[in-house]
Amino acid sequence: MPATAIIGVQWGDEGKGKIVDLLAQKADIVARFQGGANAGHTLVVDGKKIVLHLVPSGILHPQTICLIGPEVVVDPEILLAEIAELEANGIKCKDRLFVSNRTSLVLPYHKELDQRRENRASKKIGTTGRGIGPAYEDLVGRRAIRVASLFSPLTSLRDQIDTAMRQADPAPFQSVLFAPSKIRELNELQNSLPLIADQLQPFVMRDMTSFVNEALDADKHVLFEGAQGALLDYVNGTYPYVTSSHTHPAAICTSFGVAPQRLTKIIGIAKAYTTRVGEGPFPTELHGKKAEQLRADGAEFGATTGRPRRCGWFDRPAVEYACKISGVTEIILTKLDVLARQPNVRVNSSYQLRDKRIGRFNIEDISEYFANNEINFPDWETNSSVNARYYIQTIEGLLDIPIIAASMGAEREAMMWLK
Ligand code: IMP
Ligand code: MG
Repeated sequence: MPATAIIGVQWGDEGKGKIVDLLAQKADIVARFQGGANAGHTLVVDGKKIVLHLVPSGILHPQTICLIGPEVVVDPEILLAEIAELEANGIKCKDRLFVSNRTSLVLPYHKELDQRRENRASKKIGTTGRGIGPAYEDLVGRRAIRVASLFSPLTSLRDQIDTAMRQADPAPFQSVLFAPSKIRELNELQNSLPLIADQLQPFVMRDMTSFVNEALDADKHVLFEGAQGALLDYVNGTYPYVTSSHTHPAAICTSFGVAPQRLTKIIGIAKAYTTRVGEGPFPTELHGKKAEQLRADGAEFGATTGRPRRCGWFDRPAVEYACKISGVTEIILTKLDVLARQPNVRVNSSYQLRDKRIGRFNIEDISEYFANNEINFPDWETNSSVNARYYIQTIEGLLDIPIIAASMGAEREAMMWLK
């Protein structure tokens, strides 16, 4: 299967990193297509935890080429720090990790704007503060500084940054980004860019589009690694509580210039329960002891921000919707082991809106729905392995999509292959 997509079918943090790492054993290329350092993929190898924000989760397998695609927004400092950490751990990045010259840069002013807007907003999104929204605004606003621009003469690069900042920063903010105290920071940034360009230069690839298409022509196995989840897509997710990139497989096509019919397999990654970080509707959310237990057992704290994740039961209509819009052909269920210490486990299969029962996820009304959580798995902890199998069968039946594997822990070996 040459072109496989790995897509989160909830609100992110489904455990995609572990699955990409596993499937990368048989991949020639692992390619990240959207998002930025808002993502946090936690890998556990030989008991050692590695958190990646930008580098694709295939990097641990020496035979794979790892690509950071044109529609990713790259914070060069974070990327360089990740490369340095990997290399310090004996994982070679040179000649096998590449970032597209078309990729847009996340610069300090994006982070400043992101955080400032959040602080001021009456309705907060709960962003990761990594500058993702403002960086994508610059991209569609046609003023982004792309990786290729790093190699233009410094005076022209300075002009580009100046123009981008003035357009990105609405009039009332100009006094902020261009305040006298900030000018020094800006100068420092501009002066540091030639060094960043030098360090990044060996990893920059021109025309990644041809590279990927030619690899597919040659029947190479390309694994496209998604970040965040389908419900955080900025058009078809729970808007405005979303991220600023498209999180579904169509973004593979727009990012890499790969035609839709080239995608052969779309694997949806679903956690056995649901989590969400940041604000926004979450019908199956739990509070109190049950939520705390899930959070503790599942280590549900953001890999990027350390924030405690909101936790709740598996939401059948939400996952069904995410699978539908993503064209998911098979599912891998993750973190099933985390349920083991719950006395009983529930799954939601319909919502309640006053006296109406609703079986479908619907972005427009979702914030008014209550979950019925009508499917009960009693006495889970007394017989968790039998329950786990029954749980997989139940979810497979509800979604009518094959579940090919279930992950039972963070380690590579902790997998139950079913198909
Ligand atoms: P932003 O992507 O930083 O702009 O954040 C927008 C929303 O997406 C917030 O609710 C974040 O918590 C959420 N988000 C962004 N990246 C991730 C992720 O990798 N996992 C889970 N939630 C995320
Ligand atoms: Mg994550």
